[in-house]
Amino acid sequence: MFLPTYLIISTINASIIIILFMSIFFFQNQNNPNFSPNNLSLGVSFNQAFNTFNNNNSYFMSILKALAFASLIPLFLNVLTNPTNINIAFSNWFTEASFSISTQFLFDLKFNLFFSIALFVSWSILEFSFYYMSSDPTPNNFFRLLIIFLLNMIILTSTNNIFLLFIGWEGVGFLSFLLISWWTTRANANNSAIQAVIYNRIGDAGMLVFFSLSLTLFNSWNLSEITSINNSISFLHFLLLVGALIAATGKSAQFGLHPRLPAAMEGPTPVSALLHSSTMVVAGIFFLVRISPLYENIPTFNSWCLILGSLTAIFAATTAISQHDIKKIIAYSTTSQLGLMMVSIGLNQPNIALFHICTHAFLKAMLFLSSGSIIHSLNDEQDIRKMGGLHFILPNTSACIILGSLALSGIPFLAGFYSKDLILEISLSNLSNLLGITLSFLATLLTSVYSIRIVYFCFFKTPTFSPLSPTSEEDPNLSNSLNRLAFGTIIAGWFISSFILTNPHITISFVLKNLALFITILGLAFSASMLLSLSNTPLTSLYSPNTFTSNQWFFENLSHSFLLLLSFTSSLALSTRNLDRGWTENLGPQGIGHFSFSLAQKYQDSQSAYIKQYLVFSILSFMLIFLISLLYNSSK
Ligand SMILES: *[C@@H]1O[C@H](CO)[C@@H](O)[C@H](O)[C@H]1NC(C)=O
Repeated sequence: MFLPTYLIISTINASIIIILFMSIFFFQNQNNPNFSPNNLSLGVSFNQAFNTFNNNNSYFMSILKALAFASLIPLFLNVLTNPTNINIAFSNWFTEASFSISTQFLFDLKFNLFFSIALFVSWSILEFSFYYMSSDPTPNNFFRLLIIFLLNMIILTSTNNIFLLFIGWEGVGFLSFLLISWWTTRANANNSAIQAVIYNRIGDAGMLVFFSLSLTLFNSWNLSEITSINNSISFLHFLLLVGALIAATGKSAQFGLHPRLPAAMEGPTPVSALLHSSTMVVAGIFFLVRISPLYENIPTFNSWCLILGSLTAIFAATTAISQHDIKKIIAYSTTSQLGLMMVSIGLNQPNIALFHICTHAFLKAMLFLSSGSIIHSLNDEQDIRKMGGLHFILPNTSACIILGSLALSGIPFLAGFYSKDLILEISLSNLSNLLGITLSFLATLLTSVYSIRIVYFCFFKTPTFSPLSPTSEEDPNLSNSLNRLAFGTIIAGWFISSFILTNPHITISFVLKNLALFITILGLAFSASMLLSLSNTPLTSLYSPNTFTSNQWFFENLSHSFLLLLSFTSSLALSTRNLDRGWTENLGPQGIGHFSFSLAQKYQDSQSAYIKQYLVFSILSFMLIFLISLLYNSSK
């Protein structure tokens, strides 16, 4: 090699980021009244060749394609040479006496793996958006937001500096707000966007705790410095980890802060596919993977992660089996898989969590895009009960839905199998936390139930769609993106596990090793037979509308209504009634008024105009003065 590898890696990565940054400016908004084709707008002149819609998108798509392939070079260089010096500082940002912040990047294997996957998935999703958003009045704004989101995500995953990480962290949250509320005419979309912001803010509180404590404990905001300091486990250190866990809970929609993820399905489907399944929601897990040396030797923290993750997984899986909206089902399955990633953090296997992030990105993006294709083709119908026989009109999408469902439930040699089964196998090799492990296994069982449920409702029932459905599978933007993701779903697991990540070697008995697969097949067989036997029963008798699971465990009723009511009544009773209208008023304005009024009243009463009374008062006063002077003289 002429050049040190780390230099090649960082140069290519930085170039990709810069090209992505410049491509933001390609998406000019032609409807902008201030815009004129001859004007320089943001430094880049508008060129018809760059106009995404006039030119059949080929220009921008080929840029993204080239970038996605280019990102493979640093990935393989990282794998082959395993460079040590991958911490690249571009410039000093600012320096305080003993503390300096520089724009540092950590282009290591973890980042490069995620980077390639993110670029490949975004490439497909953007291509899909050309199909999906083609009737939107301002599609260029939409693409621009998607690219800005991708840049923020890259900053978040590549940076070695917590300050920069925070910018990416907030950036993806804000972009998610903008993209969820893309269709601002829908009140639901506005509500969901605000919900996303509020839940993200709760997670950010944890992030700020992590920030400030890392400064207190390590006097550094440099991630690789923080994680290499071998410090004793103090209370503050634990608090720091709790902050990180809250931050990850908020970003990755773990139980407690999960309602924003299904609510985010109000946004356009490409947004659900890119932000709320494959990239943004895994940011919390990725953050925990990055700081994994901090909690390697803290079993308490690991148990917390394990319990939180398995609770999330079981909650989302039970909820998913009783939803009717196809996007909601896929959203809850995402939450469930995020829970499984958290379980793998809890098992102290951050690399496997990363592996699951990667395989999950392909299959979940594909599932979302397929559901988008179905929704478009059925005139915006999202209820799976009104689908059926879709393979007659949408053969390609149907194949992808089946492939995605099988991969999600962990059928061998598809993407989900490699990573998901690995997590479950490792949990079995170390039965330290039986509750967490049992819940994860149950969630796995339910995964195959809800996967088969989508397949059943989409294909096995008699067709109910209208004969004039606007199907458009011949659109290459749709079929190419789906097929590319399908290809990824088939090979990603095998490819990553055999060439990129080295998986830990686990020795467990044959029975235990195949337990996860057995449970998956059991779930498939059970739900398939049940659905087929129930297919003649009217639907209304099958699903009572008010069950525990179809109401998401009443979590939102409790948290959103009850907590609001609680805070409202307590503020009314404690603050308003007790303090404001109680103590303050009785001591302050009203109290003083009453006091002086009653004093004046007493004084008035004493002025009775009876001469006898005045005489008595005069004599009494005289005697009092006499007595006092007597006492005074005698004491001398
Ligand atoms: C949603 O919010 C946007 C901007 O905040 C506003 O223009 C729009 O009217 C809102 N839509 C509804 C239905 O309230």
